[in-house]
Amino acid sequence: MPKKLGRQAGVFWHSDGASLDVPPQATALYIRQAPKAGGQTSFIDMVQAYQALPEHLKSYLDGKTGCFTKNVSYVGMQNVGKAEAIHPLVWQHRHINRCALYTNNKFLSHICDVEKTESERVLAKLAESSLKDESTFTHTWQDNDLIIWDNDQVIHKATPTPGGEIKEGLRIILESQAA
Ligand SMILES: [Fe+2]
Repeated sequence: MPKKLGRQAGVFWHSDGASLDVPPQATALYIRQAPKAGGQTSFIDMVQAYQALPEHLKSYLDGKTGCFTKNVSYVGMQNVGKAEAIHPLVWQHRHINRCALYTNNKFLSHICDVEKTESERVLAKLAESSLKDESTFTHTWQDNDLIIWDNDQVIHKATPTPGGEIKEGLRIILESQAA
């Protein structure tokens, strides 16, 4: 059944379900009634972002893990039941032989086993390297659009809608099982 998607839902870069032990590989979002303005969804390819990193950062990230928490304000995440998970920051795609940079602004609280200041400095550097306008694809929703995206490869975020208008649609997160 279509539901109202809150104005502030997912307005930060993230990968769905990152605080789960096994994050969902895919998300499907159907928008029955698109907002007249705003509400776009943007994507960044994190496989390309990883490949573009300088070698010293790739070496630094090798074997590093991050703590992902859902301690964020996110309307519509009621189906995500776990509060915290540890994942590698270099994410092996589950179906292709590629690695993605598994970092994002909100769910990732810190890099494990390093000092807080070092974690903050490295995450800021990774954000600077990966979150670029020229790397971003933005979709403007039309009525009855459906997008299915690969959480192993892309991060995404929504643009707020001005004037209180909300999107009406249906989101399906495809559960994944541990290998
Ligand atoms: Fe999302």
